[in-house]
Amino acid sequence: MQDDLERILFHETTILRRLDEMAATISRDYRQRDLTVIAILNGSLIFMADLLRRIPLPLKLDCLSVASYHGKTQTSGEVVFKQVALPDVVDRHILILDDILDSGHTLAAIRDKLETANPKSIRVCVLLSKKKVRSREVNADYIGFDIEDEFVVGYGLDFMEQYRNLPYIGVLRKDLITQSAQ
Ligand code: IMP
Ligand code: MG
Repeated sequence: MQDDLERILFHETTILRRLDEMAATISRDYRQRDLTVIAILNGSLIFMADLLRRIPLPLKLDCLSVASYHGKTQTSGEVVFKQVALPDVVDRHILILDDILDSGHTLAAIRDKLETANPKSIRVCVLLSKKKVRSREVNADYIGFDIEDEFVVGYGLDFMEQYRNLPYIGVLRKDLITQSAQ
C-alpha cells in the first residue's frame, strides 16, 4: 500500500503524540460535564479509538454514519444519514469526532441535525483540517493537524474504502485518483 502514496505526511508516533495533547485539552474542557462523543463512521474509527482511550472522563459514545462521497475524491454536497434515530443528547454536551474537515458539507449537516436534538452544547473535533475556502463554514474547536488541500489516506481515511488500515497518513498518488475517475 505504501507504494500508492506520494509521500507520508504523519507517522504513527507523530499522530499519537498529537493525540496526547488533544486529549489533555479535551479532558480539561469537559471536566464535570456530561459528555457525549459522537463519532462519524467510518473515517473517524481509528482516530476515535486512540483519542478516547486517552480521555479519563466519564463519557457516552455514539456513532453516526453518513455518506457524502460516493467513492470520488470530491464531495457531492449531498449528505445522507444512514440511521433514522438520533442519540438522546438532551442536557448533554456533544463532541463530534470526524476524520477530516474538507468542504464542510458533512460536518455542517451533522451539526444542524444534532442541534434539533437539543444538546447543551456542540463542539467539533477533527484529526485533519484542509486549508481551503469551504463551501460551508464550519468551526472546528479541536484540530489535530492543518494540511494542504491534497487527498490523503490512512489512519481511518479511505480512497474508495481502501487504505483505512494504514497506521500512518499519506498523500495518495495523483495518477491513482485520475485512473479510477476514468
Ligand atoms: P466534506 O463534507 O467535504 O468536509 O468531507 C468530509 C468527508 O469526506 C470526510 O469525513 C472524509 O470521509 C472525506 N474526505 C475529505 N477529504 C478527504 C481526503 O483527503 N481523504 C480521504 N477522505 C476525505
Ligand atoms: Mg470517506
